[in-house]
Order: sequence, then C-alpha cells, then structure tokens
Amino acid sequence: MSSLRTLSTLLLLPLAGCLSMEEPTQSIRSGVFGQAPSGEDIHWYELRNSNGMIARVHNWGATLYELHIPSAGGRIADVVLGFDDMEGYLSGDNQYFGCTAGRYANRIANGRFSIGDNEYQLATNNDPNHLHGGARGLDKVIWSAASSGMDSVSFSYTSPDGDEGYPGEVSIVVSYTLTEADVLVIEYEAETTAPTHLNLTHHSYFNLSGAGSDTVLDHELQLFASRYTPTDDTLIPTGETGPISGTPLDFRTPTALRGGAEALASSAALGIDHNFLIEGAQGALRTAAYLHDPVSRRSMTVHTTEPGLQVYTGNFLFGQTGKGGKTYAHRSAVCLETQHYPDSPNHLGFPTTLLLPGETYTHHTEYRFAW
Ligand code: GAL
Repeated sequence: MSSLRTLSTLLLLPLAGCLSMEEPTQSIRSGVFGQAPSGEDIHWYELRNSNGMIARVHNWGATLYELHIPSAGGRIADVVLGFDDMEGYLSGDNQYFGCTAGRYANRIANGRFSIGDNEYQLATNNDPNHLHGGARGLDKVIWSAASSGMDSVSFSYTSPDGDEGYPGEVSIVVSYTLTEADVLVIEYEAETTAPTHLNLTHHSYFNLSGAGSDTVLDHELQLFASRYTPTDDTLIPTGETGPISGTPLDFRTPTALRGGAEALASSAALGIDHNFLIEGAQGALRTAAYLHDPVSRRSMTVHTTEPGLQVYTGNFLFGQTGKGGKTYAHRSAVCLETQHYPDSPNHLGFPTTLLLPGETYTHHTEYRFAW
C-alpha cells in the first residue's frame, strides 16, 4: 500500500503557500482558474522549461488545459484543445478536453461487468454503454493539488465505494512533470479497498499546428502496432483482435491521417476511433506512436507502459468555441490515449484491468516533443 501512501505524504505541502509569483522560470506559478459548481475555487498551475515549453493544468478533472510548444521558425503554439474558463469546462462543449478519464476510460458494454459472483451495473452515459467513468467521472470532480518539486504537479482524488456503480474506494494520484528534455510525463498510481476494474488515461486533443487550426488530416501518424480491436456499431470490441494490414488503420509507417479518417467517415466511429495493441511487453516503457505536423514541423512521440492506444480523430467535435475564441472544427485534433483495451472486464482474452486490494495500479506515459 505503501508507495501510494508515501507519495500522498510527500504531497501534503499546500501549493498556495509555497509558490512564488516573482520567478516564473524558476518556480511553479499558480492562481485561481474559476469556481466549481459547489463554489469551491479551482486552481491553475504552470510548468515551464528553459526551452520555451509551458504546460498549464488545473484541478477540475486533473486537466491539462494549455501546452505551448516552440517551433523551428521561432513561433510558439498552444497545441491542445481547451477552454479559458470554468464555464467552458462545465458546458456541453467540453468533450473530455485534456482531462484525466476514468475510473474506466473508454467504453464498457451496457455498463456491466462481474467480479466473481458479484455483478455491477455502472452508469450508462453513452447509450447503451458506459463511457469514461460515467455521468460524473474523474473529469468532473475536484482533485487535490500539490507540488512535488519545481517541475511537477500532482493531483489526488479518492473515488468513493459505489461511485458511478464501481465497487471499492479507489485512491488515485496523477502527476504531470515537464522535463528539460521537452517531455511531458504523466504518471498514475491507484489503490482500492475492494476488487474493481480501473483504466485511467489522459484525454488531450492535439493539433501540432496549434489548437483551433483547421484539421489534423495532414498530420502524419506512425503506430508501433500491427493489430487492433475491431468493434461493433456501439464501439464495443467484438473480443477478437485483427491485423491493421489491408485496413484504413495501417499506420505502421508515417501516414497522413486523412486517408484513414475519410475511409471510415461513414462507419459508426465517423472516422478513426480505434484501439491499437502496442507492441512489446505491457509494463515496459516503449514507443506507441509518432505524430508529425508537416506545416509547423513539430512532432510528438508517445511512450507508455500501457498495452493499448486509442486513436481518436476528433470525429465528434462540432465547431464549439474554445480558448481565445477559436473554433474547434470536426477532426481539428487527434487524441492519443494510452490505456487498456475497451471493455476489458468483459473479455477474458484481453489484458486484465482488475485491481485488487493490496495491489498498486501504475501507469506511466510520456509525450515527447521536438521542433
Ligand atoms: C474518445 C472516444 C470517442 C469519444 C470521445 C469523447 O476517447 O474514443 O468515441 O467518446 O472520447 O467525445
């Protein structure tokens, strides 16, 4: 139980009292972002490195809401979708922008699973399925924030027993670290008081030309995967895995997103919205994906310890207004979500998402940038 408890202990330092506003390149800055529906203040925290990268996070949903990346031409762009205020985060325009998704990121068929003889019915917020933790998932709660050094902010949250139908009280810590090597590291730890299923992910929508740019269809994607989980019309896996070879999902070499997204436009997913089996051993940090924008020449590689990667080309974006009044058009961003396969609790052949008391869930993901 210990590592989570140790981490929590390290995190007791209240940020507000230890922050300096005077030395932005040397210390973590923070402030009030807005108010939660309860009236409680939501705080923002800023991470910077000396190469010009800036990441801003807030504790509503343990969310990354700005990520500024330089370019070879000297221009800095904010490459993630988000909102300037809480009104945006609380509105129907917010499609999990930059949040920590869970308890189970992605879908569980009909919101049902069994553990032993016990059957559980979760919230079904994506008819007929459960999506991203339910009607009030981890993206819609207030996390406690704390600093663990000058380059890292951690958020902790305890999800009560029965939350959205899930068994067990689950204690979660997610930390964001920005390194001098231009890497945004996201680490998760969790423990439970009763057997449960857990699958956490980070839900940023990326456009390497800058959030609000037209589409990501000319971004090139390379996946370190040769198989995926085919799904039914409600985006639930059939239970089989299939080769991507010969399908519009073949990204084994860097390939523009356009062909795949357009070939799948009339499918239930309206584009690419599929889970890929990352090659190599689960638990080892390995390369999952490479994303390159030929316009800005920024690139990002994704490394993870997770077995799967959901690639989602923003097919449900509908032109909502985001940061700085910019429009977030259909397919104007791509999510690269490191996670387990969808509906794993109902497929014995998939890597298990079962978490037992006494075990510690760990997940390490890195988004590495170059320009
Ligand atoms: C993604 C998921 C999509 C959609 C989106 C939120 O993670 O794969 O199907 O639900 O979240 O709008």
